Amino acid sequence: MALTTRVVRFSSTGGPDVLRIVEQPMPAPADGEVRLRVQALGLNRAEAAFRAGQYLEAPQLPARIGYEAAGIVDAVGPGVTTVRPGDAVCTLPGFSMSRYGVYAEHALVPAAHLIAQPEGFRPLDAAALWMAYLTAYGALVDIGQLGAGDVVLVGAASSSVGLATIQLARYLGAVPVALSRSPHKAAALCAHGAQAVLDPEAPQFAERIRELSGGRGARLAFDPVAGPGVAILARTLGQGGTLVIYGNLSGQAEQTPFPFYDAVGRGLSMRGYLVFELINDAARLARAQACLQAALADGRLKPVIDRVFDFDDIVAAHRHLESNRQVGKIVVRVSDD
Ligand SMILES: NC(=O)c1ccc[n+]([C@@H]2O[C@H](COP(=O)([O-])OP(=O)(O)OC[C@H]3O[C@@H](n4cnc5c(N)ncnc54)[C@H](OP(=O)(O)O)[C@@H]3O)[C@@H](O)[C@H]2O)c1
Repeated sequence: MALTTRVVRFSSTGGPDVLRIVEQPMPAPADGEVRLRVQALGLNRAEAAFRAGQYLEAPQLPARIGYEAAGIVDAVGPGVTTVRPGDAVCTLPGFSMSRYGVYAEHALVPAAHLIAQPEGFRPLDAAALWMAYLTAYGALVDIGQLGAGDVVLVGAASSSVGLATIQLARYLGAVPVALSRSPHKAAALCAHGAQAVLDPEAPQFAERIRELSGGRGARLAFDPVAGPGVAILARTLGQGGTLVIYGNLSGQAEQTPFPFYDAVGRGLSMRGYLVFELINDAARLARAQACLQAALADGRLKPVIDRVFDFDDIVAAHRHLESNRQVGKIVVRVSDD
């Protein structure tokens, strides 16, 4: 066993350049912890926000970083009975990134935040599953209770969560309408299942949603942008519709309005959402996992990988994450097996 391992850390908040790969002593798992030999990382916008000091969790500097990895259990701490050395697993987000960040060749992770790697998936694909599909499941099934024929507006549709949402909506028989500011992404979004691709800022947006929903209006708007644009989404929701806000890509979350006349006039609900509410609820997680695993196994859900970077290129990977050029998940290869 090597005495050291390589870990991504940052000592000040800022742009991608603050990330450094440092050599650290090989960590030993404590009570309830597992040491993972990391094979691949899935990158998330939350990590760029954390690195910049603009996330729900403030980094404890120098901080580790990273929520999502696929890897092999390498050692288990006292009291861990759910996994054994040699098991192929994925991490479930929701732990402190400062303490457990998984951008590393080896990382400690709470055993409660592990899930088996689905059979037949390469580690590069397995690292791209759970943040995106669990986030989508919680919103579409638990909150939105989407049914066949319901129209769902999918904000930032080319994001990893957006594409998972489009696929899951199709799986449920619903009608996903992709929202994007980038017209050149339209063909790719339709190929991945979008019924239509619209820019909410474009004229006739609300009319197009009315047409697509047969006059009923949308059932659910799933929005990671927040800010003043939320008012435009609310206008398109039908009677009893739901607006779920789950991210702040606009950087204008503080200016998010409560759309009073739409909400009162048509009984709309407006709700904030963090996937950790699902991950930390064993019964909800088990239901979501069973549904998603079945749909992943039969190929009806399939992660969309935008690009694969090498571990040594983590700074370039973060630059790409924030470029908004991606369609799908950005993945980092940490080891070759
Ligand atoms: N609440 C939760 O539990 C939870 C869980 C997972 C993710 N999230 C949030 O979901 C969002 C997506 O995460 P991700 O990791 O999937 O992202 P990602 O893969 O990095 O995708 C980001 C995409 O968002 C679009 N975008 C960026 N800025 C925008 C803006 N100001 N207005 C409209 N669209 C914008 C861009 O596409 P265009 O070409 O369309 O501009 C870009 O390609 C983030 O806000 C993240 O924090 C929340």
